[in-house]
Amino acid sequence: MFQRTDELGSVNSSPPPLREAVADPVLWDREYRDLLVIPSSDRRSPSKSLLLFDHLIDYKPTWRVLDSGSGPGRNSIYVARKGCTVFALDFSPVALERLRTAIASNASTRSRIHPLAGTLQRHLPFAAGTFDLTIDSYVFCHALTDCTKLHIMNEYHRTLREDGLLFSVVFSLEDEYYARLLSSGFGSGQTVTDPANSISKYLYSEEELLSAFSAKFTIRYFSKFRFYDFALGSPYLRSTYVSLLQARP
Ligand SMILES: C[S@@+](CC[C@H](N)C(=O)[O-])C[C@H]1O[C@@H](n2cnc3c(N)ncnc32)[C@H](O)[C@@H]1O
Repeated sequence: MFQRTDELGSVNSSPPPLREAVADPVLWDREYRDLLVIPSSDRRSPSKSLLLFDHLIDYKPTWRVLDSGSGPGRNSIYVARKGCTVFALDFSPVALERLRTAIASNASTRSRIHPLAGTLQRHLPFAAGTFDLTIDSYVFCHALTDCTKLHIMNEYHRTLREDGLLFSVVFSLEDEYYARLLSSGFGSGQTVTDPANSISKYLYSEEELLSAFSAKFTIRYFSKFRFYDFALGSPYLRSTYVSLLQARP
């Protein structure tokens, strides 16, 4: 187990071993219950990138939306308030419990959000063509093997209707927080493991990300989005790729 540190520069534990597959739900439960290392773990406001692309998505009240790896549901709540029906899928029981608590007191939001326990590493429990929009906000980057990446993209495509939309945000290789960890030895290649919570993620180059989408999706909008944000009490220049994709027939 690696010690939590408040300054990346003061990390002195040895680099952790790489995780082979998508991170363990137990690590995420610990992140949400005790650690809150990832800035969004404790956030109620929707993802900055979802707000950035807001005017590009013509949300309709008839829409069924998959919030894949919803966490405690900041994006689920945002989209439900637009009138959509949201299926919030996550494998962390702690995250889903926080979502249930967050929506308990608001009948209209509660009726539109369906929290669901499940893993992205298996067949998703939805029929083909179920969704109008799938949101993947910082989730796909936790798929570490080519096999898992391909499986997730295929399942997103299968469960979207023809021409349905996939919104995606991942960290780029230039993200200051994760690039510093990588250069301090906490990872290998483009896979970084945060010593503060032992969770691993893959950092994308533009080419690799576009190639991961290319088999099944057409790119509608693609942007590199950078912003300053605090992580463990210090400011970092965060660097992400935000994409809005359309499922090919
Ligand atoms: C960085 S958090 C993002 C949460 C949320 N999408 C947001 O933007 O606030 C990643 C989430 O993906 C979930 N997750 C990671 N791998 C998963 C998998 N294989 N199956 C289901 N959920 C997974 C984690 O439990 C966590 O809640």
